[in-house]
Amino acid sequence: MAFRSRVGTALYRQGSARVLAYTRRPQAELALKSSPLSSSRANQLHRPATACRQLSSTAASRSPFTTSSAATTAAAEDEAVAAWVEADSTVAVRFPDGAVTRYHGIWLRDHCQCPACFHPVTKQRLLDTAAIPLSIKPAVMTVAEDNKALNIVWDTDSHQSTVDLAWLRHHSYAPKLPPLHSSNSATATVAQRPKRLWDASIASKLPIVQYADVMNSDQGLAAWLADIDVYGLGFVDGVPATPKATEQLGRRVAFIRETHYGGFWDFSANLEHGDTAYTQLALPAHTDTTYFTDPIGLQLFHLLEHRGTGGESLYVDGFHVADQLRATHPWAYDILSTVRMSAHSAGDANTLMEPATTFPLLNHDPLTSQLYQIRFNNDDRSTFSHLPPSRVKDFYAALKEWTRILRDPSNELWTQLKPGRAVMVDNWRVLHGRAEFTGHRRLTGCYHNWDDYRSRVKTVLDKKVMS
Ligand SMILES: [Fe+2]
Ligand SMILES: [Zn+2]
Repeated sequence: MAFRSRVGTALYRQGSARVLAYTRRPQAELALKSSPLSSSRANQLHRPATACRQLSSTAASRSPFTTSSAATTAAAEDEAVAAWVEADSTVAVRFPDGAVTRYHGIWLRDHCQCPACFHPVTKQRLLDTAAIPLSIKPAVMTVAEDNKALNIVWDTDSHQSTVDLAWLRHHSYAPKLPPLHSSNSATATVAQRPKRLWDASIASKLPIVQYADVMNSDQGLAAWLADIDVYGLGFVDGVPATPKATEQLGRRVAFIRETHYGGFWDFSANLEHGDTAYTQLALPAHTDTTYFTDPIGLQLFHLLEHRGTGGESLYVDGFHVADQLRATHPWAYDILSTVRMSAHSAGDANTLMEPATTFPLLNHDPLTSQLYQIRFNNDDRSTFSHLPPSRVKDFYAALKEWTRILRDPSNELWTQLKPGRAVMVDNWRVLHGRAEFTGHRRLTGCYHNWDDYRSRVKTVLDKKVMS
């Protein structure tokens, strides 16, 4: 994109900032180059509101925004960074790759991260958003000489905002721009660690880390978190076969979530609680606590003793099952993504757990449409009577297809837990179960909240900070 030279400038001072002011001319340019070769004055732009309005037709026809699709895909890395106010008072920004996007003035003002608007320590907003005029726009706007920030003086109160251009790129929305190749943003980090769907063959290459590494270093903990993030489960070897060591391992990820089963649990088949987990029965693959509005995020298992037979553990990658269902039976995938079900936990005399609302088996992010949570425990599913008669059979047919793929041996990881090997399971993705067993079996473990787990992924593994 060719740079158009700046015309019609007049120098004035506002506060300590020296800026160049545009005077209105019919052919006045709307974009101002900010180049390392330019003088500091040339990096600065002032566009009075009247000039913006009167130049609107020119702006519309010449603005790079009008050719945004071409602009956003431009590969050139030598475009001048520029910012200007559009006719509709939005702020247009052109990045080094030529991509142009726009921001509403009120959005930019609302996201000001100066110490008066955003607490630098608590990372909380300090400004009164409702008091910002809807029509707010920059009175003065300059691109910093190093092309790393946008400096804005607002028209209503002369407040000054400095907006980091990398941050602005990352949070673009009109249109959303892809990260710059050189971006070191959190999205780039996460993109390098995509989830890996797995099947029964994972048995020969289980993701395993060592207890001592997890307990003694952040790198060891990060390696375990990466396994859980990528595979939905992560094994730990070398764990002392004691409740205390197991609890300490769980607490390396996050504090323990207490439920009606207690906090850290240490149980055998004694029906201490009214749940089949406390029996010797086989448990088909399921996720836990579907009866909570916010199901538990992680579950840690560590078998401390077993004198008897059976009791092998079962794990199935629910995201992989969903992927297969979508490919082979899209109609069933659609039903299980939309038909809402309830669940309950009512086996204890003084407990009746039911979620605040109903949820489908497959839960998707409403913004990205990404599958983020499986909720499936057929044993805990409640009575339902809300479906139109014409959809009842379809629902059961969809559930059959889901279950058929879920129980396909090629999808099942069967492994015998043993003292010394613990496993952390992402309960929003991986289903678990067990074979029936005989004899005395002592299992320990605990639950963790999803948000606490993700916080550890972001801070320990991704070393991310709020921005
Ligand atoms: Fe369970
Ligand atoms: Zn501010």
